[in-house]
Amino acid sequence: MPKKCVRMNDAIRKEARRLQKELTEHSYQYHVLDDPLISDSEYDDMLKKLIEIEENFPEFSSPDSPTKRVGAPPLTGFQQALHSIPMLSLDNAFKDEDVLDFHKRIVKNLNREDILYTIEPKLDGVAVELKYENGILVQAITRGDAITGEVVTQNVRTIRSVPLKLHGDKRKMPSLLEVRGEVIIRLPDFLQLNKIRLEQGETIFANPRNAAAGSLRQLDSKITATRPLDIFVYGTGLVEGISFQSQAQMLLALKKFGFPVNPHILPGVTIGSVLKFYKELEALREDLAYEIDGMVIKVDDIFFQRQLGEKIKSPRWAIAYKFAAMQKTTLIKDIIVQVGRTGVITPVAILEPVNIGGAMVSRATLHNEDEIKRKDIRIGDIALVMRAGDVIPKVVKIIESRRKGDEVPFEMPGHCPVCHSKIEKIKLDKSNINKCVNTSCQAQLKQRIRHFVSKKAFDIDGLGNKIVDQLVDEGMLLSFADVFSLEKEKLALLDRLAQKSAFNLIQAIEKSKIISLRRFVYALGIDHTGENAAKLISEQFSNLSDIMETSEERLIQINGIGPETASSVCRFFSNFENQMNIKNIIAQGVILTNDQPIIIESFENIFNNKRIVLTGTLQSMTRSEAKKILENLGADITSSISSKTDFLIAGEQAGSKLEKAEKAGVQILDETRFTAMLKDYL
Ligand code: IVH
Repeated sequence: MPKKCVRMNDAIRKEARRLQKELTEHSYQYHVLDDPLISDSEYDDMLKKLIEIEENFPEFSSPDSPTKRVGAPPLTGFQQALHSIPMLSLDNAFKDEDVLDFHKRIVKNLNREDILYTIEPKLDGVAVELKYENGILVQAITRGDAITGEVVTQNVRTIRSVPLKLHGDKRKMPSLLEVRGEVIIRLPDFLQLNKIRLEQGETIFANPRNAAAGSLRQLDSKITATRPLDIFVYGTGLVEGISFQSQAQMLLALKKFGFPVNPHILPGVTIGSVLKFYKELEALREDLAYEIDGMVIKVDDIFFQRQLGEKIKSPRWAIAYKFAAMQKTTLIKDIIVQVGRTGVITPVAILEPVNIGGAMVSRATLHNEDEIKRKDIRIGDIALVMRAGDVIPKVVKIIESRRKGDEVPFEMPGHCPVCHSKIEKIKLDKSNINKCVNTSCQAQLKQRIRHFVSKKAFDIDGLGNKIVDQLVDEGMLLSFADVFSLEKEKLALLDRLAQKSAFNLIQAIEKSKIISLRRFVYALGIDHTGENAAKLISEQFSNLSDIMETSEERLIQINGIGPETASSVCRFFSNFENQMNIKNIIAQGVILTNDQPIIIESFENIFNNKRIVLTGTLQSMTRSEAKKILENLGADITSSISSKTDFLIAGEQAGSKLEKAEKAGVQILDETRFTAMLKDYL
């Protein structure tokens, strides 16, 4: 090869290496640390460049190149591979007593009392084993029958949070590291995935675990690459060239190697704390964005683990303390219909009440008539009902084998159960919806006002659903604006309200009158305009009049706003009745802020002029969003803790900054406290 060519090739190789390195780092920042340093489009541009180079110069590609994340040519079947060490399962505990028995057995076996445990959430996903040779991911196997699993390497490479190469000093890489973990899909991603599948006429997944399993077992890894898979690792298989003394130390090492390790882990605690933490984790379960079905209790000391050993199917040193199931079967006693705020009729299953994961469930949504037909749900059926987080319970499927033959198919009523107007069938995209088209329907009005005063809208404390319903029934609430002219004396006459509560309610109404533009737009309950769309739109306009006068074309240009939202926003604001409603609300003294500092600073705010450091991962917003909000409130955001720092806002996985702040006596706000404090100003 001529010298010039060699030099050019060298430059291309260097460029490929640079892109591979930078893309790997950015992917880790985004998917593991949840703290992106560049925009999505910058990332995509770099990736495109790298793909081009690797296509022309395959010799510059490598098994750990980020290009491997987009999928590989489809397989005709999965190969099988043996696990170096069997992937055992866990014995289950269902009550404290079972855990105490487990502890007693360990104390007896080891002949010592001072046993410490590391406890972890039991993730409800799909187990995999990832094999790294000299720091490079070379194989991924499913758990299979514990001895042999299926080789799903191409699919696992598409999971963005799985490191293709371990972090750390190349010279100190273990020659072999088998890492075990659980592949999961987060609940919001799961709902979105099912929504898309439904729109495309495909069958939907019953739960995130099934969706994760189905995605991992795709022969075409390009399909897997489109699925929102994530992972948390919790253990190792065969390891050479490194050793760990304790489970906690191992998890820390895995984190340093670049793996996502669950943040809700309690390292090295006594049996008393184990039982206490179970209750805390059970409460936390509701707020987590992914499903957990229990807590895993592991003897922390690895030497003790070896001493205790394994039974045929499970280790003696670990146990799963299960939570109550989030899916249960129960009888569908009836199917009724509910009228939503836009008149959409939703069929609802009335259930024989059943305790699902600690909450009594007596209703489940059936979404629409098509869904009932698709799932062939009938009155009298025994159905599998699922509850997840704060999502409305839903019927997953009916249990056909339990049919007796006298089940009654559901029929959509011809008239609205509340205002008795005709129900119309409307075709929307690929599904049909039934709608009560009478906009003065009492049921719609109740739902609209419930939404208007709800937490993410006007957030009026004390104006719950039942009171709204009663006020509408009494004729005291005929429109949004009426909320602001409610009088204490009249309110106190209502069945449900004592004098004191009526007074508090009036105070809350007064307080709610200063509202940000985005909350206001959301409160109006415009079709297809949820919290996010309202935020995106409000950010583009400085005041409400501009939004009211804008065009569909202008709205579609906003990143994240689709044609459906754009059209319903314009339709909403061009409707005379809606315009009058808005005018009346403003006439009641409602003041709109556009999230700009000038307005916010005009009233007292605890973050003004404060020096604040942000660390860890926040659930409700990204760090950069939190930064923007705080800066708008007049705060000075700095990156390191000093004696001058006023607050440390610590999300999940907060590390050294948290320790430093504790030492320096800086006030620490966890996410719950921080968002509660913010609520006063947004
Ligand atoms: S440890 C020998 N830790 O639960 C130790 N397993 O029934 C076995 N799982 O197949 C696993 N979260 O898929 C462990 N933090 C956790 C876990 C966990 C979920 C799953 C795993 C395993 C099953 C055991």
